[in-house]
Parts: sequence; C-alpha cells; structure tokens
Amino acid sequence: MSSIISRILELKQKRDAIIVAHNYQLPEVQDIADYVGDSLGLAQTAAKTKAEIILFCGVHFMAETASIICDDKIVLMPDPYAGCPLANMITPRQLRELKKQYPDAIVVTYINSSAEIKAQSDYCCTSSNAVKVVRALPENKKIIFVPDRHLGNYILSQTGRDMVIWNGYCPTHQRILSEEVKKKKELYPSAKVVVHPECTSEVIALSDKVSSTSGILTYCKESQGKTFIIGTEIGILHRLRKENPDKVFIPASDLSDCPNMKLNNLEKILWSLEDMVYRITVPDEIATSAKGAIQRMLEIK
Ligand code: 13P
Repeated sequence: MSSIISRILELKQKRDAIIVAHNYQLPEVQDIADYVGDSLGLAQTAAKTKAEIILFCGVHFMAETASIICDDKIVLMPDPYAGCPLANMITPRQLRELKKQYPDAIVVTYINSSAEIKAQSDYCCTSSNAVKVVRALPENKKIIFVPDRHLGNYILSQTGRDMVIWNGYCPTHQRILSEEVKKKKELYPSAKVVVHPECTSEVIALSDKVSSTSGILTYCKESQGKTFIIGTEIGILHRLRKENPDKVFIPASDLSDCPNMKLNNLEKILWSLEDMVYRITVPDEIATSAKGAIQRMLEIK
C-alpha cells in the first residue's frame, strides 16, 4: 500500500471520517472510498452515516446536499472548485421569475442545482428517481422542471405530463454525439447501448437502457450481454471494468470527461483530512427550505 493511502486511512480513523465518492471520480479515489455511488446513493449514505465527518469526493452540489441533510456533521470537499456547470445554469432570480409566470406549477428540481434553487423548489429529484417523483405528483398540475433540459425531456417522454422545462444541460453529456453512437453500433453490432438521461434525446433514442450511473452499473452486471457502449462520463468505466472483468465496455465518446469530477485526487484528500478543509456549509434559512424539497423526494417510495 502506498504511504499516501496508509496515511489517509490512518487519519480517516482518527478523525472518525467516512469517504464517499461519486461513480465519476478518479479510479484511485473510488478505490479508497467507503462508498461509491450515484447522487441518490450518496445522499442516502450521508443521511444515515454515524461518522463525524463526511469527506465528499464529487462536485459541489453533492457535498452541499450532504451538508443540508446532515446539519450535525462536518462535510469536507478535497477541492472546493469542483463545481457543476449544469447546476450554475439557472440563477435564483431566474427561477423566481419562472415561478411568477406559472404560479400554480409544482417545481421539481434536479439535484444538480444550488442550495438556493432547491430552497425555492417543492421537490428535488435525481436521475434515478426523476420519473417516479413526477409520476407521484397530481396529474392536473403543471410542472416546472429545472435545470436540465435533457432529463426534463426524458421525463416528459415517459410521463406525458404538462411540463415547463428549463434550458440547461451538462456540457460533458452534450459532447456525446448521436453520430458517434451510430458509428460505435456499426463497429459493435451486438453491443447494448446504455446511457444517462443527461444525454440528448437523439442519443437516448439509440439506447437500449437509460439509467442513473448506479443503474447503468446494475444493468451491465445483470445483463446477459457481453459488450456495452456507455453513454455517460468516462469515470464510470473504472467500476464497470473492475466489477465485470469478462465484459467489454466502450465509451460512446472519449471526450465525455468531466474536468470538475477529476479535480479530487489522493493528495488533496490527505490534505483535506490533515487540515480539515474545505468545509461546505449552507446558511440556515436556505438549508431548511432546501431540506424540505430533498426530504419530500426521499419520502416518495
Ligand atoms: P447520477 O446521480 O446518475 O450519478 O448522476 C450524477 C451526475 O451528475 C450525472 O452527470
């Protein structure tokens, strides 16, 4: 074991910390984490941990969500600059204006959003429960969905609900082009195409399965197929290959690499535990309203 890893493990125990990592993190970060998963799994893990400190290896909105749910814990991020461009595509003022335009609508907000946006929302959702959350809402109600247009359009295609969809997108998923997927399908005709709902509707139309990152992992593990074309951020390939050594995984695009997700590394994790930085906090009044939207999501079974 490298000395940096043994120092991380030692400090982790001394500080009573848990390390959680998103499925897109660098392989070496995933390998030292206590839990690796999708946004919903990470929020649920944070909600039930008994550890004093949650060292969150992901992007800012994920750590912020953990800090909102676990207001009695210390939430640290190894690199505070690991943001999410999609989360920044709507401002609190823009959402206030949209709500004024549709005063009777229910606001459903993707978890890839700031705490201020969640605080103005009725429900939060993740890629793994978005369709379920929208289906649980009264059928006669208009739904404002922010900030991801691709996930919004996917929900619309599955539910047929009356939706106003904000025009945001994830630049990393936007880089996955349907032309590339078609070319890969020609090269690997027996491959299953498995994609994230942040992909464009053209890419989704070519897929066999649309799922959250953890859903993609479960599908590929349980499938009888041997070859898979994966339409999401390429960090997921580490777990896919590690957990399925006899299967072949081909990225739909080599360019779908999220620069923010790759900002965390082992050195920064060690410094984070040594210096107890960078602490993620949310002002009380914002956290209380945002927590309501997250809890209403977690209560939908
Ligand atoms: P998941 O919740 O599916 O892991 O998605 C998180 C994300 O940010 C996708 O880009």
